[in-house]
Amino acid sequence: MKEAILRLLKESRSGYISGEDICKSLDVSRTAVWKHIQTLRESGYEIDARPRSGYMLAGIPDRLFPEEIRDGLSTRILGREIYYCDSISSTNDLAKELARQGAGGGSLVVAEEQVGGKGRLGRQWHLPKYKGIPFSLILRPPVEPSEASQVTMMTAVAIASAIKDESGVAAGIKWPNDLLVDGKKICGILTELGAEMERINYLVMGAGINVNQDENDFPEEFRNTATSLKIEAGKALPRVGLLRACLAEFERWYDVWLTRGFSPVLDKWKEMTVSLNRPVRISTLNQSWEGWAEDVDEDGALLLRLPNGDIQRFVSGEVTLRLA
Ligand code: BTN
Repeated sequence: MKEAILRLLKESRSGYISGEDICKSLDVSRTAVWKHIQTLRESGYEIDARPRSGYMLAGIPDRLFPEEIRDGLSTRILGREIYYCDSISSTNDLAKELARQGAGGGSLVVAEEQVGGKGRLGRQWHLPKYKGIPFSLILRPPVEPSEASQVTMMTAVAIASAIKDESGVAAGIKWPNDLLVDGKKICGILTELGAEMERINYLVMGAGINVNQDENDFPEEFRNTATSLKIEAGKALPRVGLLRACLAEFERWYDVWLTRGFSPVLDKWKEMTVSLNRPVRISTLNQSWEGWAEDVDEDGALLLRLPNGDIQRFVSGEVTLRLA
């Protein structure tokens, strides 16, 4: 009912809609309408009420409510099923749990705040309330586990494209899937798998985008290495529009990947990367190498030219960009 009232208010955005018209269209009492209006106000919607004129929607809060995400969403499958939390430990953990319980491919888990988020290589990834977008998608791609890293690189392409379209900020991709602006991280991606040897049961693609943080929203130790779209673009960005754009771009690239394979994704990834043709250090859990990032092969592995001229192939690791 609350959603139906919101829809009516949105449809008459330019003016007032009388309480009586709402009652008639939805077949509810005036008291019920009033109660739902109050609930909407408590959620942050600004609703003007005037005797004899009725109600008018004066402002929509920047919240990631499912009804706001769906409003204008152009996807067929992605984000049609939404699990929303005001605060969560980790959207990836909830998505994995839902996937194990049978949630369909394309389901979205999103939160206003993430307090126990996980990053790659055991790092933490917190996002303060109403400032970032922590979200996870449940996917069930019909491929082998060894091809999962392609989805991660595809995600980086999709999110970087959405960020560019919505904010004008051009983020570069650091292998395999970090999004950076001037060397500072703006989005991290963590893919987790539930799989057998030859089959993926589910893949959870989790991304955390730094959207409206100011510098002092980042813990001091991250201020030199992390940034947000607000800092880079000089103005706050509506999070819900950005999330919708991410879902649309993701679905577009996911379809490309499923129908035409990894090659077109990799071509685009190479256009957007900042980590090739330059000196880098690559670290795995217990070792690190320095060399020239020469290329990425057709599986997405990084090819590093070592000082002795040999090529070493990496399927995972953390890249640090070095000065030439
Ligand atoms: C990294 O760069 O280390 C990856 C960070 C991934 C963070 C996202 S936020 C949403 C999702 N849920 C998590 O717990 N982690 C990912």
